[in-house]
Amino acid sequence: MAEYHYDVLVIGAGPGGYVAAIRAAQLGLKVACAEGRETLGGTCLNVGCIPSKALLHGSEKFAEAVDGTFASYGIKTGPVTLDLAAMQQQKLDSVKQLTGGIEFLFKKNKVTWLKGYAAFEDAHTVSVGGAKVTAKDVVIATGSSVTPLPGVTVDNDAGVVVDSTGALALDRVPEHMVVIGGGVIGLELGSVWRRLGAKVTVVEFLDQLLPGMDGDVRKEAAKIFKKQGMELRLSTKVTGVAVKGKTATLTLEPSAGGAAETLSADCVLVAIGRRPNVDGLGLEKIGLELNKRGQIETGHDFRTSVPGVWAIGDVIPGPMLAHKAEDEGVAVAEFIAGHTGIVNHAVIPGVVYTFPEFAGVGLTEEAAREKGEVKVSKFPMLANSRAKTNHEPDGFVKVIADAKTERVLGVWCIASVAGSMIAEAALALEFGATAEDIAYTCHAHPTHAEALKEAAMGIGGKPIHI
Ligand code: FAD
Ligand code: NAI
Repeated sequence: MAEYHYDVLVIGAGPGGYVAAIRAAQLGLKVACAEGRETLGGTCLNVGCIPSKALLHGSEKFAEAVDGTFASYGIKTGPVTLDLAAMQQQKLDSVKQLTGGIEFLFKKNKVTWLKGYAAFEDAHTVSVGGAKVTAKDVVIATGSSVTPLPGVTVDNDAGVVVDSTGALALDRVPEHMVVIGGGVIGLELGSVWRRLGAKVTVVEFLDQLLPGMDGDVRKEAAKIFKKQGMELRLSTKVTGVAVKGKTATLTLEPSAGGAAETLSADCVLVAIGRRPNVDGLGLEKIGLELNKRGQIETGHDFRTSVPGVWAIGDVIPGPMLAHKAEDEGVAVAEFIAGHTGIVNHAVIPGVVYTFPEFAGVGLTEEAAREKGEVKVSKFPMLANSRAKTNHEPDGFVKVIADAKTERVLGVWCIASVAGSMIAEAALALEFGATAEDIAYTCHAHPTHAEALKEAAMGIGGKPIHI
């Protein structure tokens, strides 16, 4: 039998890779994880989930102080000023603590961090930073990076045309930020800079924001963001961006074709999606082919078509989300160790961390209706006592259930704490709950979560509070 340096070598230390490495080590395997970045944690901890949430939280506090929210609770403030350098520093502090935390967990679990970018020599041999390392099983967890917009050059250092990484690190508040792409990144980072004082225009190719979310949620999102002062240019595409000094001039056209117009901005954020990281991995050396979208296909057990090579996270099909990558990381390690790992891809919640938050799990109403007859119930946050008391009138909870069995097929929430509320809905879907199961579960009062209970009551009967 061949002798390997490691039982498992994981390529990439994002939420998929670092979790796979730790879990495999917990299961008694000898594990190494190759990471090319200076710090562990991948996109999520370094330039994604964590820094964006740090700025969303900080900017929300700032906006509450200046936009009259504090005053509405009877809190008087003096003149409120922004110390952007300090806000950026608290973001960096969070990132440092969390990436350092993964380094600690690697040490604790005896996972070896191989520093450098890895490339396959053959299915069991990988070169990392000049050294050749062998492993019985190799997990590809290389994640994703920003999709470029043809003809548009991103220069994060110059700070005029930036991607999400540049938009997280701006050292000034733009006067006018144009966001290309009304998806998750565009709305989260657009919200950050709008709250800090920028005029923000979102240019979206489709006729609604947030593709993939429920239709009602998408319509309501447009209303809410407009009300907050964002300018929305839906059904519009950007055909070019010319930069002169610190000013960018964008050329826009209706998506369906038509007269072009120009728009000028001192900051342009390109946020039109992400694509898998596969370049330079040497996949041709092991005969691993990509699908049409450039992703690595796997079976339900995350095996690729090459024996001994597995793949998880953003590099494989499915939503590009940290928690999906993490769950796949646990599952792939369990499969490799000879156990059965489980990821239910039908129940992966999605959350947009703006104010209010937008969250969903399961089917949209549109997708559910394509499969059969459904019952739909919506309960407004305006009628939820806690949301009303907290001055948070926007949003609703929507429950979609099978018309005959009343089994819950999907839940969509817009609420200040929708990201936390959706966890209960995910559990309900995972356990195959009916709307009645949720309606008969006692929910603490006064909580936002009662809105889910009331929406569920509306499937088989009537809610109490509307
Ligand atoms: P990644 O996190 O991308 O990690 C892959 C790692 O592999 C990287 O560190 C990379 O350096 C390394 N690597 C690549 N190639 C090699 C190689 N050849 N050798 C060695 N190392 C290599 N998701 C959420 O669920 N919630 C959020 O709030 C959220 N916010 C986000 C905000 C932003 C601005 C962005 C950009 C993304 C956000 N995401 C969020 C998405 C989330 O970051 C990704 O889904 C998640 O990081 C994917 O995990 P992963 O392990 O597959 O890959
Ligand atoms: P996205 O796929 O969410 O949105 C991209 C948007 O750009 C779409 O609405 C698309 O129609 C639009 N678009 C594409 N080409 C365009 C063009 N030429 N002109 C105008 N609009 C155009 O991608 P985004 O926002 O870049 O995020 C990438 C990934 O990162 C997402 O898949 C998401 O899952 C993940 N992410 C998750 C977060 C979260 O969970 N809260 C936060 C941020 C990112």
